[in-house]
Amino acid sequence: MVLHPVDTGKILSFQRITFVTAEGTKYPVEAPVGWTLMEAAVKNAVPGIVAECGGSCACATCHLFVASEWSGALPAPESVERDMLECTAEPATAHSRLGCQVRVTAQLDGIVIHLPQSQV
Ligand code: FES
Repeated sequence: MVLHPVDTGKILSFQRITFVTAEGTKYPVEAPVGWTLMEAAVKNAVPGIVAECGGSCACATCHLFVASEWSGALPAPESVERDMLECTAEPATAHSRLGCQVRVTAQLDGIVIHLPQSQV
């Protein structure tokens, strides 16, 4: 009998996410429900997300812009995220989010995320 130590028996649902750099290069990735947008970028080697604090909402280097047509699909940011969005290297807009604070859900399948020119 072969045991697989990470096999939980759950079937993961992967969602399609397209990250677009400031230069316009597209990085289509797939990420499971439950990951954050930051994890989806970093674990797929998408450039442009630094994530210096590792997802603790303490660095603002996972700043991203949600494509306008997807803005309504995300829950509103909590106050700690809103506060940290005031610390981004590139000025935040109405479409700004911190990637570590947005979880991938089934409703986000196909979402398009734009990355800022700089995170630091
Ligand atoms: S990874 Fe540091 S605030 Fe998101």
